[in-house]
Amino acid sequence: MVLNRLHLKVQKHLEPFRLSLEKLQDVSARLRKDMIRGLGKHSHHRASVKMLPTFVRATPDGTEKGDFLALDLGGTNFRVLHVRVLEEEQRVLKMDSQICAIPQDIMLGTGEKLFDHIAACLAEFLDSQKLRGQTLPLGFTFSFPCEQKEIDKSILIRWTKGFNCSGVEGEDVVNLLKEAIHRRGDYDISSVAMVNDTVGTMMSCGYRDQSCEIGMIIGTGTNACYMEEMKNVKRVEGEDGRMCINTEWGGFGDDGCLKDVLTEFDEEVDKTSINPGVHTFEKMISGMYLGEIVRLVLLKLTEEKLLFRGCPSEALLTPGSFETRFISEIEEPDSGLENAKKILTKLDLDWDLVDACVARLVCDTVSSRSARLCAAALATIVNRIRINRGLDHLKTTVGVDGTVYRKHPNFSDELQAAVRLLAPKCDVTFLISEDGSGKGAAMVTAVAQRLALQSRLLEDSDGEDEEEEEEEKCDANI
Ligand code: GLC
Repeated sequence: MVLNRLHLKVQKHLEPFRLSLEKLQDVSARLRKDMIRGLGKHSHHRASVKMLPTFVRATPDGTEKGDFLALDLGGTNFRVLHVRVLEEEQRVLKMDSQICAIPQDIMLGTGEKLFDHIAACLAEFLDSQKLRGQTLPLGFTFSFPCEQKEIDKSILIRWTKGFNCSGVEGEDVVNLLKEAIHRRGDYDISSVAMVNDTVGTMMSCGYRDQSCEIGMIIGTGTNACYMEEMKNVKRVEGEDGRMCINTEWGGFGDDGCLKDVLTEFDEEVDKTSINPGVHTFEKMISGMYLGEIVRLVLLKLTEEKLLFRGCPSEALLTPGSFETRFISEIEEPDSGLENAKKILTKLDLDWDLVDACVARLVCDTVSSRSARLCAAALATIVNRIRINRGLDHLKTTVGVDGTVYRKHPNFSDELQAAVRLLAPKCDVTFLISEDGSGKGAAMVTAVAQRLALQSRLLEDSDGEDEEEEEEEKCDANI
């Protein structure tokens, strides 16, 4: 009886996290509108979902080959890789790789220091691989929103996910890397292809499954890319074929359109982040923030005397103390409750069995919302691809990566179940990417070399996009 009453009170606090199917459909409809705005020639600059052209026009066709270097910046670690693409066996081999730490002071220091550090890590790696004499092409997975002008010219729009180096926003990242290498003067690289991690993920899966035309990341941050019809990419010259669009869906809601979905806890996470008001959708979903949301809910329930006899510990009061990996551990089907007890003890909390169960319920509620919101966004993309191609039914593959998707015990099941409900006319296969940021970057470089791409970004101007409005009207009728 007491437990039930407690349960009801706890549920009341968790209610705002539970999103009905109708709400998710509504979120998906809002994202669809924002995507159209992001693609428009005149409307993209006020769009919160940036829909960035990537200048990747083709997925691998299996004839790519050669040796490549790859850099991977923007996930859990910074890595340098040597990758070989084998044409005969249609395989991508990782020859070797090295993880380099990026200390906090570099993450928040000057851009020059950051790129000097990257160039130094690359030099060390080339020495260890005895590659310094060779001038190899380099794929640079740079997992931040960039306005790409060409495959090797990429302007950082803004930092996300805990990075904030001065003098990089608004600059061409390829240039900054090349300048840092020239400052050293002891080695060189040949062409550079810039790749978002979503694109690398799609491309690395594309080599295995040629119907893979979507890449999705649910890790430190969240984002997706997909192959859009060129005729809808109004900012790039040309009508034929397709181009991969980096949606940057993490920015969805930055114009306030998700106000009714945000909880008081999301607002608090945003306020205390290093980039308030930016990447609203990402902050509800990704690994960098989920643990903090759970901590804030636990704290609230403690204040309401629904947990830990009303006594928070120093640790629970400390921002960042509840790591996102704790959520996965606490939700493990067999060992979850035991893990919860260990984690609560580690956080110095005076818990009983009911507390451990409530903590598990909180984790489950927060991670489910994340999975369902991702599903709504992914459903928007697959529905769009289906309608773009005038199909009654679409069969497609999504390449996926990211710690939250990989490590959480039932995140992928929940996401897939919700996609089935939200995109009933699409049959979506999920393929976990094998090192998309490394091998995928090499793949993009290889495909780019094969095609020697040439495209020009059209000039911006302010105004309305007629076609775009028509498209919105037409979409509304579907
Ligand atoms: C952030 C970045 C985006 C990246 C994603 C996943 O949202 O802005 O570029 O793809 O994180 O790493």
